[in-house]
Amino acid sequence: MKDLSHAPFIEELCDTTDNMYRLGWNERNGGNISILLRDEELAPYLEGNDPILRDLPLAVPFPQFAGRYFLVTGTGKYFKNVSRHPDVNLGLIRISEDGSIAHLLWGYSQGGSTTSEIVMHLGAHWQRLQVDAAQRVVMHAHPANTIAMTHIHPWEDKAFTLSIFGTCTECIVIFPDGIGILPWMISSSPSIGLASAEKFKEYRILVWALHGCTVTGTTLDEAFGLLETVEKGAEIYMKTYLAPNRCGIDIGMLRDVAEAFTLQVKPGLLD
Ligand code: 13P
Ligand code: ZN
Repeated sequence: MKDLSHAPFIEELCDTTDNMYRLGWNERNGGNISILLRDEELAPYLEGNDPILRDLPLAVPFPQFAGRYFLVTGTGKYFKNVSRHPDVNLGLIRISEDGSIAHLLWGYSQGGSTTSEIVMHLGAHWQRLQVDAAQRVVMHAHPANTIAMTHIHPWEDKAFTLSIFGTCTECIVIFPDGIGILPWMISSSPSIGLASAEKFKEYRILVWALHGCTVTGTTLDEAFGLLETVEKGAEIYMKTYLAPNRCGIDIGMLRDVAEAFTLQVKPGLLD
């Protein structure tokens, strides 16, 4: 395997982790990202029979991804450090034929493994691919306002989505398909991964109560844009929800926006 450190998809991932860290979304090792790579973009770096550096067992097998390549942040690795040392903090894996092992081909050069949320990532990729064949990115972060909102707001998809939509006009425009919420669960477990995958059948954005937010997209920019728009809405919510004269965008106004921009709003959201 040729050194991947300067491959365009690694450099873009490094820019993204830097931005996420500086926005305060990824303290310490908080958050993780995976990218489903296309064989063509990887081809210049593969040298035929690439040796497997290590085998990393998966708690849940994903045979549907046999032979597919993912770039994945490592467990316990700090977003702050990814761009300076991509080979230490990132790993390139290929899923084994039976789906039970991630073959490490590059990265995690000082040890370690994929993010502990790998079941959620692979599950999310798979479910979103059923909806959109161009789906490639899963991005998890701990943005403070989004988490803060789950301390004071019911954990209900429609109500939470409408509260965020009510904060600023762009939210419904950027994610008319809404936000899913998962009640608090133990993180990094196969069960939170599988429960999340179920929600990704319906949503591109999933908030984990009292933990963080995961978004999916066709590109890093698209996923990043979803995350920052959710977090902007949550920030405005947290700044205004106690104000006695708070106005907010009501259902009638949201319907007007949906009509003006011909948005594909999730059925039932504006009823
Ligand atoms: P990892 O360091 O294993 O990626 O875990 C961070 C995290 O955000 C867990 O939800
Ligand atoms: Zn997390």
